[in-house]
Amino acid sequence: MSELRLEELSASNIVAANTLSLKPGQEQFVAPVSHSIAEAYVNPVTAWPRVVLEDDEVVGFIMGNFDPDAPEVEFRGCIWRINVAATAQGHGVGRFAVLALADEARTRGFDRVTVIFEQGEAGPAAFFEKLGFVPIGETPYGETIAALDL
Ligand SMILES: CC(C)(COP(=O)(O)OP(=O)(O)OC[C@H]1O[C@@H](n2cnc3c(N)ncnc32)[C@H](O)[C@@H]1OP(=O)(O)O)[C@@H](O)C(=O)NCCC(=O)NCCS
Repeated sequence: MSELRLEELSASNIVAANTLSLKPGQEQFVAPVSHSIAEAYVNPVTAWPRVVLEDDEVVGFIMGNFDPDAPEVEFRGCIWRINVAATAQGHGVGRFAVLALADEARTRGFDRVTVIFEQGEAGPAAFFEKLGFVPIGETPYGETIAALDL
């Protein structure tokens, strides 16, 4: 059994986080990690950027946003970004990261976590459904908004 753990995004893991590979076809479903790093830099109060290590190797990145005052409900306690290295997908890394974010949301007093994603064959819909997220709406661009009750 491999050991999974979470670390804050920091100078020691930022390069590894920024060079995570994806499987062919997945790029269209997630913006580059560098975008999230920039967003975390300009939103230091609400952003929650974390890397996942599997046996001491960076294999995933997740960023939450926790902003109880956000005007749109889908941005109050949400997953902004998640991606798992192509070679580590299917090992439970994504589940581990989402459950860690859900724990953090619970600690901060949120009663649900939301995520926005695009539908498509190589997309993450089945993953989020497996974790218990249910669709609650659509963005003006046709993306699915889903929520996990905590
Ligand atoms: C979506 C993603 C984060 C899933 O990460 P992962 O580490 O491979 O997922 P896990 O191994 O934790 O899988 C958890 C469960 O979801 C299921 N699952 C994961 N991806 C799936 C898929 N594409 N189709 C069907 N089921 C899937 C797994 O089989 C597992 O089910 P189990 O409980 O029966 O074992 C990863 O595929 C990824 O980085 N995709 C590209 C980026 C992306 O689309 N991000 C989301 C943008 S919002």
